[in-house]
Amino acid sequence: MKIVYIIILIWMVTNATRYARDEEESCDGVKFVTRAEWEARPPVRTAPMALPVNHIIIMHTCYGACDNTPLCKRNVKAIQDYHMDDKGWWNIAYSFLIGGDGRVYVGVGFHNVGEYTINYNDISIGVAFLGNFDYMVPTAEMLNATKELINCGIKKGYITPSAEIHGQRDATCTNSPGKNLYAEIKKWDNFIGGRLPLYHCCADHNKG
Ligand SMILES: *[C@@H]1O[C@H](CO)[C@@H](O)[C@H](O)[C@H]1NC(C)=O
Repeated sequence: MKIVYIIILIWMVTNATRYARDEEESCDGVKFVTRAEWEARPPVRTAPMALPVNHIIIMHTCYGACDNTPLCKRNVKAIQDYHMDDKGWWNIAYSFLIGGDGRVYVGVGFHNVGEYTINYNDISIGVAFLGNFDYMVPTAEMLNATKELINCGIKKGYITPSAEIHGQRDATCTNSPGKNLYAEIKKWDNFIGGRLPLYHCCADHNKG
């Protein structure tokens, strides 16, 4: 029995270390809101990412638009509850979330596999904008936060400098990241749109 406790302990410490790394990441120009700060629940399970990744998937959450930090924190927490309790996932699905407050909310972070787009979960970083960008227009601050986050990932060696940027709709059957956000990321260097090689349509992973 003892060995079981030891294994569990090692597992917990390993996970704690992995999250701690994301929590401690400091990047010039990125205002992180750590999991501790938005009062994240611990994940049910985690799977480590093989870094660096060569893909970035940009999404929107549809729900949970927010323009101030207390509201963004509440909405991110509600999204985690929804993903864990209703969807039965291990954790909040996304690597990071971008709030209307211009902050970057740590989801599973750089070091853990998310659950947002089948076939791309373990080879990409998934960045979700809070809100519905079929109707809303992403602010310059939100776009800037995303670019700075990507630059940070490149600097730290988690993202390859030539990483391809895609909309979620390029990888699965969804409208995400919404037409207004998609129109913006189309202008970015390294944007590659259209149906990707690993495109897959799966109802469970169709996030509007
Ligand atoms: C983001 O905004 C800051 C402050 O205005 C600016 O210095 C920086 O160059 C911007 N970053 C990008 C990638 O546009």
